[in-house]
Amino acid sequence: MRLDFFKYQAQTSPHPLAMEISHANGSYIYDTNNKAYLDFVAGVSASTLGHNHSKVVNAIKSQLDKYMHVMVYGEYIQKPAVELTKLLAKHLPASLEKTYLTNSGTEAIEGALKLAKRATGRSEIIAANKAYHGNTMGSLSVMGFEERKQAFRPLLPNVKFIEFNKAADLKHITVKTACVILETIQGGAGFIEPKNNYLEKVRHRCNEVGALLILDEIQPGIGRTGKLFGFQHYNCIPDILVTGKGLGGGMPIGAFTASSKLMDLLSDNPKLGHITTFGGHPVIAASALATLQEVTQSTLMEQALEKEQLFRKLLVHPLIKDIRGKGLMLALITPSDAVANDLILKSQDAGLILFWLLFEPKAVRITPPLTISNEEIIKGCAIIIDILNTLQPSK
Ligand SMILES: Cc1ncc(COP(=O)(O)O)c(C=O)c1O
Repeated sequence: MRLDFFKYQAQTSPHPLAMEISHANGSYIYDTNNKAYLDFVAGVSASTLGHNHSKVVNAIKSQLDKYMHVMVYGEYIQKPAVELTKLLAKHLPASLEKTYLTNSGTEAIEGALKLAKRATGRSEIIAANKAYHGNTMGSLSVMGFEERKQAFRPLLPNVKFIEFNKAADLKHITVKTACVILETIQGGAGFIEPKNNYLEKVRHRCNEVGALLILDEIQPGIGRTGKLFGFQHYNCIPDILVTGKGLGGGMPIGAFTASSKLMDLLSDNPKLGHITTFGGHPVIAASALATLQEVTQSTLMEQALEKEQLFRKLLVHPLIKDIRGKGLMLALITPSDAVANDLILKSQDAGLILFWLLFEPKAVRITPPLTISNEEIIKGCAIIIDILNTLQPSK
């Protein structure tokens, strides 16, 4: 299998972790030698309720027995998608009422950018340095990391970059700006939270010049930061909210949500303003609905903040310079790329899954399932401390 993986399946890096998976359950993933790995990554913030959560699996199975794909997005009335979008609206401010379901996060970003252009009649987009919004052409155009995009130019014209958290840069948002797109908490950059009412200030500036504000909550959304959406911590409501990853509960999904007034523009002049075959797929929507129900009806969000405190209490070591992030979206900042690499690779050997962040090589990701237990946190943190103790202080 390993040989075939490298021979037939296209790779994204010269050194994939290449763990051969047998099955997964709760907070554990098992390889084909039946070795158990405690999962501190959750498929990169996607497996919100851990692996094979019974409510998610049952929702998927029961939908499979009824029907799978029957029609392209938006034509037929399909209960899972209707209930999912209705439940999202119930937990969002009134201005975020209507949701478009897509197959992935990046596709939802594309839809959001198109909607902003269509609504404002403007073309300029403002994004942030070190932002990550996905890998299709529009999302890549608003990615704030030149090294990973230059090979794919030309990209979208009229995209400008500002520094996240720098209020002085907000003057670049003008009456020419269609939208400002930001991650509520910058992920790839190293889990950078907005500071000094930054998002409020962005909101205010957008209002002044008539630009739309898009917040990308593909990573912080769905309870990970202790509230259902990250923006709820920062007194700033976006015009378009983009979600994905954890919403699917382990299935592929993306979504963008806006007011009815805005969203209805996608069905008019031109009609079919954004279309997809599989978006809103009934099996995926059933999985997402079960996930959203569980996150909103349980105490998992409160627990996320308590679990954060446990991580912070346990992860004290001279090689941990900082712990960034909120709730169960945490990044250990180590002194060097080498320490971060060693920790991630040695943890895997020791049966603990950790992972990198896209643009901050000194960071180590900790984004476990929200369902992780305190005992599992204690066990995983002990592995981390043991490994750090073996690393050279010079690193
Ligand atoms: C903040 C953010 N936006 C967008 C995306 C893209 O989502 P997807 O990989 O589902 O296309 C990601 C994925 O990592 C992300 O973290």
